[in-house]
Amino acid sequence: MIINLTYYHVANDVPEISPEIAVVIDVLRATTTISWALKNGADSIQVFSDLDLLKKSAIKWQADERVMLGERGGKKIEGFDLGNSPLSVTKKVVYGKRLFMSTTNGTKSLQKVQYAKHLFAMGLLNRRAVAEKIISLQSENVLILGSGWEGTYSLEDSLAAGALASYLKTNCNFEVNILNDELQSALALWDFWKNDILNCLKTATHGKRLSSLGDYEEDFKCCSELDCLDIVPAQVERGVIRAS
Ligand code: MLT
Repeated sequence: MIINLTYYHVANDVPEISPEIAVVIDVLRATTTISWALKNGADSIQVFSDLDLLKKSAIKWQADERVMLGERGGKKIEGFDLGNSPLSVTKKVVYGKRLFMSTTNGTKSLQKVQYAKHLFAMGLLNRRAVAEKIISLQSENVLILGSGWEGTYSLEDSLAAGALASYLKTNCNFEVNILNDELQSALALWDFWKNDILNCLKTATHGKRLSSLGDYEEDFKCCSELDCLDIVPAQVERGVIRAS
């Protein structure tokens, strides 16, 4: 058995295919926030790129059963309950609720590969959990998609793509094939930064953007933790993610 891994930096690079397994990464911060929300008992997260559509869907839910969260340019969207900080999705706020979420890049990436047979959201914090899920599915092709920033490369998502590939190469009983140069360089990136993840996130342009908006030290710490959650956020119907 062989697992073929391909990595795309941004949604626009992904060919129009329906992959068997797709893994979407947005370390800073959408997939980290999704993972923590599910860990803290959110019922589900529905992702949108279009804000009007999000509002129309959210309004159909009882006010005490929904949370609207998201950001544009790193800042909370006006009228929304929460921004996109993984620290804000506490048990008290999200337990049992449907989260309606839109972010600048992460939710777009999730929508881009929504026709995958299995779609997972991954940050560094649940890298091992997602990797073990992939191993258990014994599928031949896995597409990894970073979220980048408005169509451009991002350091932190490539770091996590490299972390995933590295875990699979080390822990899989079958052959792991790195199909493109993007993933080869992500592996090299992981080797370079794996003992200094926090610094890598702060060095990234989106890290610098967040730092310029305020004190995001705790967000950086949270997003840079490796393998600390056993949650695998999986799409259960188009656009809706639950813990698996
Ligand atoms: C995104 O989707 O672009 C990010 O999650 C932005 C952020 O840090 O909130």
